[in-house]
Amino acid sequence: MSEVSTGPVSVDMVDGVARVSMFHPPVNALGLPLRRALVDALAGIAHNRQATAVLLTGQANAFSAGADITEFNAAAGSPDLRELVALVEDFPLPVIAAITGVALGGGLELAMAATARLADPEARLGLPEITLGLLPGAGGTGRLPRLVGPERALDMILSGKPISAAQARRDGLVDAVFSDPASKDGVRWAAHFALKGDRTRTRDRQHKIAGAHAVRGTVAALAAVPLRKAKDPSAAQAAIDAITAGIEVSFDAGARVEREKFEERRQSPESAAQRYLFAAERAARKPKNLNPGTATRVARAGVVGAGTMGGGIAMALAAAGIPVTLVEAEQSALDRGLARIEQNLATSVAHGSRTEADASSERALIESSLDYGALASADLVIEAAFEDLPVKKDIFADLDRHVREDAVLASNTSYLNIDALAAGTAHPERVLGLHFFSPANVMPLVEVVRGSHTNAEALATGFELVRRIGKTPVVVGVCHGFVGNRMLEVRSGQAERLLLEGALPGQVDQVLTDFGFRMGPFAMGDMAGLDIGWRNRKAQGRTAPVSDALCEAGRFGQKTGTGYYAYEGRDRRDDAAVAKLIEGVSAKLGIVRRPISEQEILERLTLPMINEGARILAEGIADLPGDIDVIWVKGYNWPAYRGGPMWYADQMGLALVAARLRHYALLTGDASLAPSALLEQLADDGATFDGYGR
Ligand code: CAA
Repeated sequence: MSEVSTGPVSVDMVDGVARVSMFHPPVNALGLPLRRALVDALAGIAHNRQATAVLLTGQANAFSAGADITEFNAAAGSPDLRELVALVEDFPLPVIAAITGVALGGGLELAMAATARLADPEARLGLPEITLGLLPGAGGTGRLPRLVGPERALDMILSGKPISAAQARRDGLVDAVFSDPASKDGVRWAAHFALKGDRTRTRDRQHKIAGAHAVRGTVAALAAVPLRKAKDPSAAQAAIDAITAGIEVSFDAGARVEREKFEERRQSPESAAQRYLFAAERAARKPKNLNPGTATRVARAGVVGAGTMGGGIAMALAAAGIPVTLVEAEQSALDRGLARIEQNLATSVAHGSRTEADASSERALIESSLDYGALASADLVIEAAFEDLPVKKDIFADLDRHVREDAVLASNTSYLNIDALAAGTAHPERVLGLHFFSPANVMPLVEVVRGSHTNAEALATGFELVRRIGKTPVVVGVCHGFVGNRMLEVRSGQAERLLLEGALPGQVDQVLTDFGFRMGPFAMGDMAGLDIGWRNRKAQGRTAPVSDALCEAGRFGQKTGTGYYAYEGRDRRDDAAVAKLIEGVSAKLGIVRRPISEQEILERLTLPMINEGARILAEGIADLPGDIDVIWVKGYNWPAYRGGPMWYADQMGLALVAARLRHYALLTGDASLAPSALLEQLADDGATFDGYGR
């Protein structure tokens, strides 16, 4: 049989094996056209008497990244993925999946329905549906435990994290690993399998799930742990229900639960929010006026300041294989910084998140010096010194003299004016901000701050560097606190006001943890330490009456054992002394305390942030509402299943958001709470944030 092409699928016969190749760039998403083409191709092969086996392969850098996410807004057209998967599993000839690139979600489910699986050593296999607020929808909750056992299956489905080909081989998910299994070697393997291989359907395999009662214990124990931590608890619970039914009752019973729960989750607001975020993240990767082609590939980076941030940034660079020179002003500070890096590496080796070999090569990539001259060969230098404008200005002026003329200079400032830093240099066009979040070696977000003079090359170089180290860059403009901290400051102001008006820290924090944040503002303040903000406020002549009073009483947070709460180790409890102190501050300011409802707390903490987000958009500090949402989800742990503040506002309805803000402006006499011009305009037009700026 010569090559036959049915749109995104082509079939060629090699030595009696029908090789079916999916080619539907960029990632072979299994949308309706690809599903139809596969069904047609398989129908053709079923009548071909010369074929002894099918080798199912994916070109376009992927076996398949799964169901087409853009199709989830409506019910799937026929054939749906389940029908395709059933066709493969019941096909009269053995079907061998040859996995190159990724096999994710529905892509892996298709491969699991095959009779056997081959993988390229670089392949990655996973069921990431949970990150979209879903559970696997095409038999994955039943087939994965039958191939790898319930423990590994739960881990993969609840974490959503893909595994390597080597791991998949150890777990029994794939049968052989070798380079380019879609080529002749794969054909040979498939032909041999047709003669000798075990053709038991995956759904009928029992040995990994035998002993249902023993398994029930494992399932219950495992289920209890991740659910508490799950990013989307409802999706996690749905997956657990389907897996459990599939093991304890039967494959078909599990499949029924899976189908019902999948539909429920697909139509849920939580999944819609996470699908929106998936698209928003990808849109943030293509900011307007940024041409990746103008970026310089950073061969060596420099970091100034070996404190917690500087050390974390150096680690993040080294972890991506980028040599880095860490510069400090004094030997003792440098020694402390290097010791902290050492400690972090040792901890991650002990926890198994790094091998000793990785830790050693990262260590070897970090050089240190007390001399700016050591930065002469760096392509990009990140300043991560003390958050003080004069200090940073001096550093930039020094750097300007020591680095190459074409090197990019970045500041890790979280608030300060990038243009003011650039002004003291001879080449302000090469200056930008790279605002990492703490701990910088862990947190996935970086705000890439475009100064008014930053040129296209410097911006693209910073942006591409952030991508290369595996973090999410979002381009923002210059203003105090950029996007994230500017909105956080608004929320902090409201949190403090709520205490003065009648709420207590535990009540406020509880509302936000119920909403889905991991921590409320006061628990977070205690963890970070209250004294730094206090000192900054004093220096700037600002006040925050409750926080100031706590600091004056020596309550600096966890490190002193008392702050907004009292601590024993890390365990916190409400403290009657704090309630008394707050009541005293309210009285001193002449504020009559009143009971404050949970609804008011939630609205006063979220709606002013949204209002500030609208100002940020109107000022052009962020290009898209999605950029703001990505920043809040990735940088501040806004629950992904609520989509980010701007998405959340759209779901609430902007007219209602504006009305509630007007209400609070009147109630508190705080004019800054009144809806911003953009919010008013969108609300009047019956419009949403989504769609703004496109
Ligand atoms: N459906 C539709 N489009 C997809 C897609 C999918 N499953 N996966 C990726 N794409 C698109 C992206 O939107 C992007 O489009 P643009 O170029 O227009 O921005 C393009 O493919 C390339 O993707 P990335 O920019 O993300 O490229 P990458 O190389 O960084 O990552 C990837 C590739 C690892 C495949 C990543 O895209 C990914 O993780 N995709 C999602 C995988 C996933 O969640 N699959 C499960 C789907 S749900 C499911 O399958 C349910 C079920 O059981 C029935």
